[in-house]
Amino acid sequence: MSAGGRRVAAPRGTRDVLPPESSLRQRVIDVARDAFERYGYRRIVTPTFEETGLFLRGVGESTDVVRKEMYTFEDGGGRSLSLRPEGTAPVVRAFVQHGMHKQPLPVKLWYAAPMFRYEAPQAGRYREHWQVGAEAIGSDDPLLDAEVIALLDGIYRRLGVPGVRLTLGSMGDAESRGPYRERLMEYLERHRGDLDEDARARMRLNPLRLFDAKDPRIAEIMREAPKLLDHLSPAAAAHRERVLEALGRLGIAYEEDPTLVRGFDYYTMTVFEFVSDHLGAQSAVGGGGRYDGLVEGLGGPPTPGIGFGAGIERIALALESAAEPPAEGIDVYLAVPDPALRLDLLPVLERLREGGLRCDSDLRGRSMKAMMRHAASLGARHAVIVGPREHEAGVATIRDMERGEQRQVPLGDLVQELTG
Ligand code: HAM
Repeated sequence: MSAGGRRVAAPRGTRDVLPPESSLRQRVIDVARDAFERYGYRRIVTPTFEETGLFLRGVGESTDVVRKEMYTFEDGGGRSLSLRPEGTAPVVRAFVQHGMHKQPLPVKLWYAAPMFRYEAPQAGRYREHWQVGAEAIGSDDPLLDAEVIALLDGIYRRLGVPGVRLTLGSMGDAESRGPYRERLMEYLERHRGDLDEDARARMRLNPLRLFDAKDPRIAEIMREAPKLLDHLSPAAAAHRERVLEALGRLGIAYEEDPTLVRGFDYYTMTVFEFVSDHLGAQSAVGGGGRYDGLVEGLGGPPTPGIGFGAGIERIALALESAAEPPAEGIDVYLAVPDPALRLDLLPVLERLREGGLRCDSDLRGRSMKAMMRHAASLGARHAVIVGPREHEAGVATIRDMERGEQRQVPLGDLVQELTG
């Protein structure tokens, strides 16, 4: 490589996750994974890109995600592929492709994966973001809706995400939506003059999409529009009642939001969103809902499903806003002042690491004084010093970095001394 090359920055809307933030992010994944396992979910990994058609059919051609935000490209073979903008359509595609409906239902799957959307970047909104998510496919029991919401609620509580609130809506079933759509269209026709080209395009494809228009003038119009929640079929209303009853039993507080439609066309019945008051405009830390027609829509047998996705970056931002970052640092710094002894002590360093201790040592030829500074900057709790005299006697000096106290122990006892 030539010297003095041009610097390249990460693309706009993407970000490098550096330590210590990367530990916080890992903690989010670890806590979520532990919860998923306790609720009977198993991990699924799907490809980062899919055939574009999957998202057109699965997510819906009327959605912003499909109309404006997909990273779509043609590969060498002329196929149209898209980076995954969300996780549900790919998981359902895999469910259908692998005949998973033959397994005991519901099949419960979880994922932690990056998603790609060409959105206007701002705090908490990125063009690549990560989600932990879960999908439970094969049951329409309203108690499953409550269980899925409780699972996500438990993840936020265990992590200590501050200011979390749950909002609930319902997209109804096909029976509710048909007649409702007509009423909504009538209302929108009366306001046609106030709708811009984008809003009219949404209206043609799916008038419900106007509820998530970002334009404040459209939002104003939609506040007065008839709401699907007031037009639920008896079956959809009964389902909703049962979900609310189960949430009540679980002591999970919620607010109803009749304008909550969420950004994808696959939703039916229960939809929900968790927001944190500790975030700015991008306050949704997770959301999900039922998608009872999606499996069939993607070529499988009629099979209901429900799930959620939760944004790892937003959860981390909310946690950072509230708490001290978790203590970083290592357990042991091995200081070998005589370079000739470093090779001899290599197995000792490995033994410490095998013993479960987080260890580091000098790799830049530092002086003893500089090594102690290095140990302190790495947050080492102990320094283990092995000079020539110690080496000859088969001992090491353990220094407690905080108290400055020192003691000598046989080299062979180091792991026991430091872990005991
Ligand atoms: P979503 O609401 O689009 O749902 O995304 C889920 C979560 O991902 C959001 O609540 C937010 O925390 C985070 N998120 C979304 N977009 C961004 C972004 N540009 N930057 C940072 N974080 C973001 C879904 O994706 C559905 N697949 C969820 C689902 C699963 N529904 C049923 N099953």
